[in-house]
Amino acid sequence: MSSKVKRTYASRSEQSRICFPSPSSTFSSFPPTLSAKRRQPFDDFQSQVAAPAKRVKISKNKSKQRTLKQLHFCIDQSTVRKCTICKLSYTRGAEDDEALHRGHCARVQRGMEWGKEEERDKTSTGAREIADRVKLKDGKKGRIICVDATVGGKIGSKLSILLKTINVALSASTLSPEVLRASKIYLFLLPAMKLNKDKIVGCIVAQRIEKAMEVAPSAFGPQTDVTSSSRPIVNMNDSSGLFCYPELLPTALGISRIFVTSAQRRQGVASSLLSAAAQTFVHGCILDPKHGQIAFSQTTGDGMILMKKWGQGGIRIYDEDHC
Ligand SMILES: CC(C)(COP(=O)(O)OP(=O)(O)OC[C@H]1O[C@@H](n2cnc3c(N)ncnc32)[C@H](O)[C@@H]1OP(=O)(O)O)[C@@H](O)C(=O)NCCC(=O)NCCS
Ligand SMILES: [Zn+2]
Repeated sequence: MSSKVKRTYASRSEQSRICFPSPSSTFSSFPPTLSAKRRQPFDDFQSQVAAPAKRVKISKNKSKQRTLKQLHFCIDQSTVRKCTICKLSYTRGAEDDEALHRGHCARVQRGMEWGKEEERDKTSTGAREIADRVKLKDGKKGRIICVDATVGGKIGSKLSILLKTINVALSASTLSPEVLRASKIYLFLLPAMKLNKDKIVGCIVAQRIEKAMEVAPSAFGPQTDVTSSSRPIVNMNDSSGLFCYPELLPTALGISRIFVTSAQRRQGVASSLLSAAAQTFVHGCILDPKHGQIAFSQTTGDGMILMKKWGQGGIRIYDEDHC
């Protein structure tokens, strides 16, 4: 399985990084150096405040004295905000953090543009349009493009930003060059408002693999005694409760990344991309998820529901770096 990493853009300095703390960490400790620096003993603080800056007249008439209110200084308040849409955390007020978040958030919601230049580069890069007029539930029609994951040029640079966005959104690590060499990327394009431009609203990375593990039926949970089953099982992911049989079985296709923009979810984009990959990844051979010929490496909650629905219980699990 791919290792989980922070939701962060690696090009940025450690101090100003957008980060998505792991579930165990809390925002109150962020950034640790800052809070440690600013905190000081209350006595010291009082002595500074108590320095006689101004003379204050004290009225002798006690009955006229106003009721005083206790004021509190909150000197350790965090400026880290977590976006409810893209789930990214960023430092409010830090310009580069906010700009990175805005860009990321827009890509997560509405996707990236596929313009004239990308369209023109299709032929020279070997990108293939493998399905046209693919109808979604909301009636919109799109097309599916397949391209080598190592492609260069205009398409290559667009894909590298797209993959970075997907990795941050999934808290996933960067795909290694070996994985990319064995992969094809399928993109779902929808016509955009602007003339002659499309939007990339869905993407899957399909990887040639050899082995994967069969998922144990959901009845096998943490409470189930392994010895009560005739076959041993392994827990793949503590939080999802996913269990697999450890034997590695021959499997042709691995899906290492799958992502649909939040504005287009539940319209059938992911299912269309998966079906396109199943039909075209191996030349002349249609792969059947029901028969265990396809595996996933990532297992988010939504991904697991999709796995069950589209794969009808036959999707396997594989380790994208050691398959
Ligand atoms: C998971 C994801 C790719 C699904 O994309 P999608 O285009 O919305 O999926 P589809 O429309 O093809 O869904 C097919 C079926 O899967 C199930 N499904 C998918 N997402 C679901 C969700 N969030 N909740 C419940 N069921 C869901 C449904 O049964 C759906 O059919 P229905 O809409 O007719 O009920 C998308 O939610 C996503 O990008 N999530 C963030 C990234 C992620 O988690 N990737 C998965 C890594 S394993
Ligand atoms: Zn956001």
